Amino acid sequence: MFDAIDLAALPHDFRWGTATSAYQIEGAVAEDGRSPSIWDTFSHTPGKIDNDDHGDIACDHYHRWREDVALMSRLGLNAYRLSIAWPRVMPEGDGLVNPKGLDFYDELIDGLLQAGITPSVTLYHWDLPQALQDRGGWPERETAEHFAAYASVVAERLGDRVSHWTTLNEPLCSAWIGHLEGKMAPGLTDPTAAVRASYHLLLGHGLAAQAIRAATSGAEVGIVNNLSTVFPASDSPEDQAAARRHDGHVNRWWLDPVHGRGFPADMREVYGVDLPERPGDLDIIAAPLDWLGLNYYFPATVADDPDGPVPHARSVRRPDVPRTGMDWEIDASGIETLLLRLTHEYGARKLYVTENGSAFPDTVGPDGTVDDPERRDYLVGHLAACASAARKGAPLAGYFAWSLLDNFEWAYGYAKRFGLVHVDYATQARTIKGSGHRYADIVRAHGELGRGAA
Ligand code: FCB
Repeated sequence: MFDAIDLAALPHDFRWGTATSAYQIEGAVAEDGRSPSIWDTFSHTPGKIDNDDHGDIACDHYHRWREDVALMSRLGLNAYRLSIAWPRVMPEGDGLVNPKGLDFYDELIDGLLQAGITPSVTLYHWDLPQALQDRGGWPERETAEHFAAYASVVAERLGDRVSHWTTLNEPLCSAWIGHLEGKMAPGLTDPTAAVRASYHLLLGHGLAAQAIRAATSGAEVGIVNNLSTVFPASDSPEDQAAARRHDGHVNRWWLDPVHGRGFPADMREVYGVDLPERPGDLDIIAAPLDWLGLNYYFPATVADDPDGPVPHARSVRRPDVPRTGMDWEIDASGIETLLLRLTHEYGARKLYVTENGSAFPDTVGPDGTVDDPERRDYLVGHLAACASAARKGAPLAGYFAWSLLDNFEWAYGYAKRFGLVHVDYATQARTIKGSGHRYADIVRAHGELGRGAA
């Protein structure tokens, strides 16, 4: 049934998981000492989110996490990527630690371990404490320093049971979508703030990596980037240059500095903003990584756009290409290309697909089941491409499907459903979708392969 996926190419100890993030699922935004984050502020600003949705309740995971861990067990998964809400742990962003906030994650980690599920913990999935935003947020250097202090607190508390750490999830979205395009929190459209934020996010990554390693032994530290394959809309020199700029904007700007190559010179020129550099920063940013995380959703085709915003590259819609409910192009070959690029161009020693998935408008059938053939095919197609990359030498150690549950999809609110498990938001009932059952079958088949070979 899984002929399409070369499961034998994946290591026997492969991590099979799902991913979520705190603000998208937890709810309980004012409970047990949590303070507002920039996403609470943004989502409660009229007009910013479709349907004016917000994360106040979300999937109520804060109260239902035991049920959600049980769902992972039912799916036969051995790993889970979650994020910690900074405003639960340090409500002011710095200074006082809120013990109840840490207790929640402490119990969740224990629950996962009891179920045989290895936690992979992300420290920052976009929910900056609002108090730090009020003091300038990521465009200010001190935010990076506070991030490292927070990382240290979390690592000290959970580091005896957690070894897999992610500093940042998709800093591109925080910097470019949050500070340049204004479509995510904090909602700015200021190129100088955006470039400064990008710099301090990466500095924060490096400082947090140091802090985690100082607080706990045996930590495996990585960073998670959302990357795209990039194609020029035509073979004109202008479009080819635009593709190179877009690649710089979404890929190289985030990969080069953490690999000791500094910030790409061509992009510095495109942005025309001075970086807030200090001696020694580049070494901190380039702290050696134990692994790299790839979030992959779609490829990009771009044309030159001299009058448009930086990087002056306009996305072009390719006709006749299948799309998800997000209107994102479906192209599984991109995940293989990127895994091989990280292997060959950046010398990655260990790779994880930390997110990959698709939204489609699901419905619960009269018999109570949720049949989602498009999401199932997306999953199988992308897993096949991952296995193919592994066969060709990519050191792929795990795959985390986005997402365990339907959840608060940022500016799109609850209308876009990415879950392998359907959530009825009125009742909070969870129903494993057809794609979830298929994922469980694939995981089981991979396990049986290992047993057969043993
Ligand atoms: C990624 C985010 C994740 C989710 C998916 C669909 O960019 O990291 O939180 O929203 O997109």
